[in-house]
Amino acid sequence: MKQTILVTGGTGFIGSHTTVELIEAGYDVVIVDDLSNSKIEVLDGIEKITGVRPAFEKVDLRDKDAAEAVFQKYPKISGIIHFAASKAVGESVQKPLLYYRNNIVSLINLLELMPQYDVKGIIFSSSCTVYGQPKPENLPVTELAPHQKATSPYGNTKEINEQIIYDYIHSGANIKSIVLRYFNPIGAHPSALIGELPNGVPNNLIPFVTQTAMGIRKELTIFGNDYNTPDGTCIRDYIYVVDLAKAHVAAMARVLDQDTDQIEYFNVGTGHGNSTKEIVDAFEKATGVKLNWKYGPRREGDIEKIWGNVDKANNVLGWKADTPLEDVLASAWKWQVKLREDGVM
Ligand code: UD1
Repeated sequence: MKQTILVTGGTGFIGSHTTVELIEAGYDVVIVDDLSNSKIEVLDGIEKITGVRPAFEKVDLRDKDAAEAVFQKYPKISGIIHFAASKAVGESVQKPLLYYRNNIVSLINLLELMPQYDVKGIIFSSSCTVYGQPKPENLPVTELAPHQKATSPYGNTKEINEQIIYDYIHSGANIKSIVLRYFNPIGAHPSALIGELPNGVPNNLIPFVTQTAMGIRKELTIFGNDYNTPDGTCIRDYIYVVDLAKAHVAAMARVLDQDTDQIEYFNVGTGHGNSTKEIVDAFEKATGVKLNWKYGPRREGDIEKIWGNVDKANNVLGWKADTPLEDVLASAWKWQVKLREDGVM
């Protein structure tokens, strides 16, 4: 029998790609999203790719009654993938209470409802931000690396939510969880029917790169070239969003169908670091488009270098990120071109 998965934030960037992979793996999907940072038309893209239009409920998960109504309407939900959250680091510094309420209350509501509606497992979207800047001897960073104090309310909500899930399970709650710590998700579905749609001026590197290449932004500033890295620019572990989506499918199957620890943690990345300059060069090579860029000052709060040790996900989840970087960057560009063709931007 098909299992039903609730995907919160399912019209968002990672949520939409994960919905596609879940449907293609044979799950039924119910999406919940308040559409505060995504568009309902994303459902059309998902339907075009998979031939299936997932069930959709416009719900703000801070509203517990509204959240409960979803479980009443779809009593067969057996697992949750919880993406719904606010994610802009800078905005979280300006509006900390908004971030704490959005990101923490939603999770608490879901956790409270899970045993009541016999929902077995929850996959939680965490971030490598919990590791802060690892010591050089801890790179690539493993799941056991010490956590560091968050530098933003956004980062703090990831840390607090991990702790909330841990404490709830250790109190005897009859649920299971897998916490996925993402590195830097990038790219778009190869069909260019779904992708990333940032609001306003993008904070993240790849949307800024593709918008600059499109002429929407005048030039890209690489934030700092005096870091202690081979070319002086920051290093990140850029993971293809479709590969990341597949990690959720593997994690969901593990939570629901295997006899495992009640809570597990996995890094989700490629295991390789690329500098910002390398990304710019690879983008130009992959697309043949010349990028207007310059070096500028460091961005406050940036981490110098981080990339993941992903052996645990590779061995235990049987999952690996294997899409070549140039294909990933080409997919991001194809999506930007599609947005232009569609008159979106
Ligand atoms: C940021 C957040 C992280 C969050 C992630 C979501 C911080 C400190 N961290 O990660 O918590 O989970 O987004 O995707 O904000 N860069 C430029 N020019 C630009 C934009 C970015 O040089 O215009 C550089 C940055 O300095 C950084 C790299 O590109 O070295 C990646 O930046 P970004 O995409 O913002 O991700 P993170 O900062 O790694």
